[in-house]
Amino acid sequence: MRFFPVYGFELVAAGRQVDEQVRPVQLRVDHQRSLVIEDADVHDRQVRARTARRGEQRKVEKRLFRAQVGDLVRGDSSGDERAVLSRATLRHRCGGQRHQSGQNCKRGSKSVHGFEPNDTSGVGTDVRARPQTWLARRVEDNARPARAQFSMNLESHLLHRQLRGRYPLAVHASGCVITDASGKTYLDASGGAAVSCLGHAHPDVLAAMHAQIDRIAYAHTSSFSTEVAEQLADRLIASAPAGISHVYLVSGGSEAMEAALKLARQYFVEIGQPQRARFIARRASYHGNTLGALAVGGNKWRRRQFAPLLIDVEHVSPTYAYREQRAGESGEQYGERLARELEATLARVGADKVIAFVAETVGGATAGCLTAPPGYFKRVREICDRHGILLILDEVMCGMGRTGTLHACEQEGVAPDLMAIAKGLGGGYQPIGAVLVSSRVIDAVAAGSGFFQHGHTYAGHPVACSAALAVQTVLERDGLVRRCAGQGEALRARLEHAFGAHRHVGDIRGRGLFMALELVRDRAGKACFDPAAKLHAEVKRAALDAGLICYPMGGTIDGESGDHVLLAPPFIVSDAELDLLVQRLKVAIDTAIAQVS
Ligand SMILES: Cc1ncc(COP(=O)(O)O)c(C=O)c1O
Repeated sequence: MRFFPVYGFELVAAGRQVDEQVRPVQLRVDHQRSLVIEDADVHDRQVRARTARRGEQRKVEKRLFRAQVGDLVRGDSSGDERAVLSRATLRHRCGGQRHQSGQNCKRGSKSVHGFEPNDTSGVGTDVRARPQTWLARRVEDNARPARAQFSMNLESHLLHRQLRGRYPLAVHASGCVITDASGKTYLDASGGAAVSCLGHAHPDVLAAMHAQIDRIAYAHTSSFSTEVAEQLADRLIASAPAGISHVYLVSGGSEAMEAALKLARQYFVEIGQPQRARFIARRASYHGNTLGALAVGGNKWRRRQFAPLLIDVEHVSPTYAYREQRAGESGEQYGERLARELEATLARVGADKVIAFVAETVGGATAGCLTAPPGYFKRVREICDRHGILLILDEVMCGMGRTGTLHACEQEGVAPDLMAIAKGLGGGYQPIGAVLVSSRVIDAVAAGSGFFQHGHTYAGHPVACSAALAVQTVLERDGLVRRCAGQGEALRARLEHAFGAHRHVGDIRGRGLFMALELVRDRAGKACFDPAAKLHAEVKRAALDAGLICYPMGGTIDGESGDHVLLAPPFIVSDAELDLLVQRLKVAIDTAIAQVS
């Protein structure tokens, strides 16, 4: 049965149009799929009380009133029944009256079991329309799913990622917890998008940023260098993979990848091989959303509508053992097969036309923590060297400690010619990314034009550099990369325990605090859920409802089918928080699967 989309919904309506006695109410669907209608006055008092008592860590007693009217909505959801529900809902808001299920209800709140969050991906909508009109419209819209169901985000002047629904307002963050405007807290189990490595509001980082703003907030890099940018570069080079001698600073991951692609091309122009104009990358990969980065990315869905604008890139197989390693094939044999595929592709394209092979060291957002089979990257490095091709590693997501070593490539025993880093570099305190550049490339440019033909206005921004420098200093001082490896094992053990035999979890994979679960309809056959059901979106919603931020994604297998949930909590995550993470994740996954089954 499907009703209008009320998941995570807040209805704040004076309701005077319906009845003078109607009070403001808030509507949401809780984790048991109950539609909960709360008296907004009571809710506000609760939030105030909770805020006031937070210092004493006392839990405020729930003062919401609930009653069941499930009998009104069960069975066939004909339009008539839904109309009845609308009337009952409205009448109920009048407070203190008997509603149509015949149950007495105390003033202020009730719940309706059986509601299903719909598949819009917003997580709440502020509705200030007349409630009667609103309810009628929601029911009506739902009857025509092809139409846009709701668009309350359009009431904001901010162009949100999702135009329908509404995001909760994040108002505070500390450690591994984000708090929204209603006082609800969320355990940050994915560091946003694998960004937050130190957790939120680390005092050392905040102090460094404040100090930098007082000193100098901005100076354009076409005229000046700054002390803080130089210090950051020194620190990054001191811990960089072998052969890396320089750092090119940018403001994020896509910019880092764009710069890497252009610098790689310029390198070959500088050394007199301008015929090299092709990149080889991998299917199911993600390298960013700007046109160059999107072109090397191998996610079908993300590329599709922009395909006419993208440069021509060859894509080879990802390292996807769960689905693509053959029965009876060892990890080494699988890696060798993939290496031979790369060689065959080079032979077909013409190796002397290729600039670089581009790969995430551990595949992240689009396929969920795909690690390479043993020996794979060594063979790739050897092939690149034999053909004079550059190796560009994208460690925007998996780098800077996330997999338990500062650089993920350390675990592969290879060093790239160019490497993109970003998320964990600034830990979310400031937008910053970088390309780590080998002396091979730098020497060619220095001996040639002496100038990298690229640049952005905010490159090397002093405040961003101060944040990144502080994040990296704290990481090293507090041994947090080591801690990430240890807590990664603790997380893996908990995931294995909770989901190792779960009938809808096909694979648990990853490294360090960079783990993913692949969700399947049928564990034995590895069949995925119907992509139209958007299981990943349901998981995200159910997780938020349960107070958990994780990073679910669809299109895991081929850009269209498959679902996974990515986890990347801050390195400071405690054992107790890991317990809570797994507990809430289980609720979210089970709830979401029940929705789509
Ligand atoms: C591997 C990888 N590369 C590049 C990017 C793009 O980074 P940004 O979103 O900062 O532009 C991402 C973002 O998720 C990523 O995971």
